[in-house]
Parts: sequence; structure tokens; C-alpha cells
Amino acid sequence: MIRFDGSPFSGGALVYEEDGALALANGIIQAVGSAETIAASFPDSAVADAGGLIAPGFVDAHLHYPQIGVIASWGADLIDWLNRYTFPEEARFGDPDYAATAAQSYFDEQLRHGITTGASFCTIHPASVDAYFAEAARRGLRAVGGKVMMDRNAPDNLRDTAQSGHDDSAALIARWHGSGRASYAITPRFAPTSTPAQLEATGALAAAHPDCLIQTHLSEQHRELAWVAELFPEETDYLAVYERYGLVGPRSVFGHAIHLTERERAALAEHGAAIAHCPTSNQFLGSGECDVGGSLAQGIRVGLSTDTGGGTSYSMFDTMKSAYEVAARRGQILTPAQLWWLATAGAADALGLPDKIGNLAPGMEADFTVLDVASTPLLHRRIQRAESIEETLFAQIILADDRAVKAVWSDGAKVWPAA
Ligand code: GUN
Ligand code: ZN
Repeated sequence: MIRFDGSPFSGGALVYEEDGALALANGIIQAVGSAETIAASFPDSAVADAGGLIAPGFVDAHLHYPQIGVIASWGADLIDWLNRYTFPEEARFGDPDYAATAAQSYFDEQLRHGITTGASFCTIHPASVDAYFAEAARRGLRAVGGKVMMDRNAPDNLRDTAQSGHDDSAALIARWHGSGRASYAITPRFAPTSTPAQLEATGALAAAHPDCLIQTHLSEQHRELAWVAELFPEETDYLAVYERYGLVGPRSVFGHAIHLTERERAALAEHGAAIAHCPTSNQFLGSGECDVGGSLAQGIRVGLSTDTGGGTSYSMFDTMKSAYEVAARRGQILTPAQLWWLATAGAADALGLPDKIGNLAPGMEADFTVLDVASTPLLHRRIQRAESIEETLFAQIILADDRAVKAVWSDGAKVWPAA
């Protein structure tokens, strides 16, 4: 079993227990320890390492479930890719049946890859949010999501208004936030697709619902930055747009956050905001390289994210690998424990859920995976040379795929593979 006794970015370590076990009751972890002691104290509620390595469920801090049908689409850059593939696909989600089947496919992919919680952008349609949370609830998963708000610079059939975006979001918050394990995230897509009036209404919504997250995009591509400067000429930089409307604080999660100025970086730290790092997407769309080490050193929380469908993989192994490569290109080295933390406890922290998910400890929700660290002939061979758990985990990061995920547990019950 693996877990963390703190963040490996600030003195904490990955803890490995050979032959580990968990005691579970009512979806909550009661105790962690050796299989022997747990079996003795909790004979009826123990889950042991037998047959695989127990690990915290992965957490994906930023993704777009409606883009499942257009992942792996060719595009010249972000804005071209949005217009050519993403917007036409998202327009389909006004149909509740279409949204329901997409949500089913999405959660199949999420679970196949050992992700127990994701934070998803839905589309402008309330039906897309209903489909997402209903499917998560059906599977017993903790889920974060919200209706995208866009009232300009999007096709006619994908625009709401300042008023309807606000009112629909408020109704969805009433319906879903805190229902079971659903958490609503207030979701303006990004500054270019909202008018000042919509951002103002969004700020009011955020003020009225202080326990909802706020998720959006920030500083992903240079062309987008130039567009923001053109649309909001009075602001000093991109983040200042969100600050003006009260959208930057400890519950804000900004996707990408690559081309930040010193002022923006300091302001993110000062406001206690979080960054969702999306390395596969950033490489695929040619966006640039997020400064993960520098952001964390400055006190900004960072979580790892697939950003699917802009991201190229539902796998957190691929995403950790990509984070390692992106950091290396910047001259930063992320250790196996740090990478794994970003994909679990770090992402949970970014989503304001550090005491609930992303780690294995008494009192936390029983969301975990059982991993086969020798899932392919190559991994089988490679781990024979591993001299530490970190080496074994790094081999997973570089070489493993969904075949490594033998089982997924959520809320204390096995949810994957489906019975
Ligand atoms: N910026 C605004 N919308 C999107 C999106 O759907 N994907 C990515 N990668 N960036 C965005
Ligand atoms: Zn995104």
C-alpha cells in the first residue's frame, strides 16, 4: 500500500507498506496499517494488498467530459481547435440522451484509469450537468462539475446570457451541490467568452455560494492572451479580469496558468488560488510549459489534470509522465513521489478536498485503486530491477496504462471493473 504522510514538495514523504491493508466502515477509512494488524483489529472490514498495490484513487483537477467524442482531433491551435471540433460537439449536449451516453462513456474511461474524482467542465446546457452528476451518483463517485457559462465569442447555439447563465447555474447548485458526493463548481469558460456583464453576474453567484469552487482557464496560449488584452484593455493582465469580478480566491482553480507575469503569480499566491496543470494538453496544443516547481515554491496549490479532450489521455500515468517531461524541459526535476502526489493528494488539495480524497488515512473517504505493478511483460521485467518503491512507481509512470488498474473502490465499495 502507498500513501503520503505529507506533501513531498514540503518535507512529507510517500509511505510504502508492504502487505498493507485498510479497514473500512460506511465508506470511510477507519485504519491503515499492516495486513496482520488490520485483520486482527477489524476482521470484518479489512481490505488487504493481496493481489495488487493499494493506492489512493487518482484525482483529475480539470477536464471536459463533453469532449470525449473529439479527443485526439487535429487543430492548428487552441482557438482553431475549439471552433473546429469542440464547439460543434458541445452543441449536442442540449439533448439529455446524448449527454447521458457521453457521461457513461466518460466515467467508464475515468474508472478504467483509476481516477476516482474529476473536476469537469460541462457545456452551457443544464442537461449536461444533470447527466454528469447523475452518472457519478449512480456509480457512487465523488464528482466536481459545473455548467459552462459563455455569452459571447461562441456559436449562437452555445451562448447563454448573463442572466440565464446565472439563473441556470443557481438552479443547478440548488439541485446538485452537496447532494451525495456532488460538488458544484461555478464555471465561466474563460474571459474571452464572457462579457463583463456575465463576469459580474458570475461574481455575484460566487459571493452567494461561498462553498462552491470556481473553475476557469487562465493564460494558456499567446493568441488567447492577446485576445484578452483586446477585449479588456483596461486590465493590467489576464488574471486582473477575474480579480475585478471577485473570481480569484482560495476556491478558484485555474486551468493551465502558463504565461503568467510576476504580478499574476504573486496575486495567485496572495489570494490562495490553485492551478490545474495540464501537461498533455499543453504539449498537444503547443501551449507552453507551466512552472509547477516555481508555483508550489511560491505557495500556490497545484493539481495535475488531464484536460481531456484538449489533453490526449485519460491516463494519470501518461499525465504524470508528461508532467515529468515538461518540468525536465524547464530544468526542474519532479521525483516519482512528487508526481504521484500531484495526481492524487495535490489535485485533491487544489479542489479544496484535502481531508476527503487523494490520500489514505483514517477519516478519509475510501476511494482507492488496486494496481498491478507488473501488468505488461516489459513492466514485469523492469520491476525486477527496481530497488525501491519509487523506482517501481516511476516505471509505472513511464510504462503503465489502464492494464495496471486491477480494481477501483469508491465510497468503500468496489466500482471497477463493473460486476
Ligand atoms: N480554453 C477555453 N476553453 C477551453 C477548452 O475547452 N480546452 C482548453 N484546453 N482550453 C480552453
Ligand atoms: Zn480545460
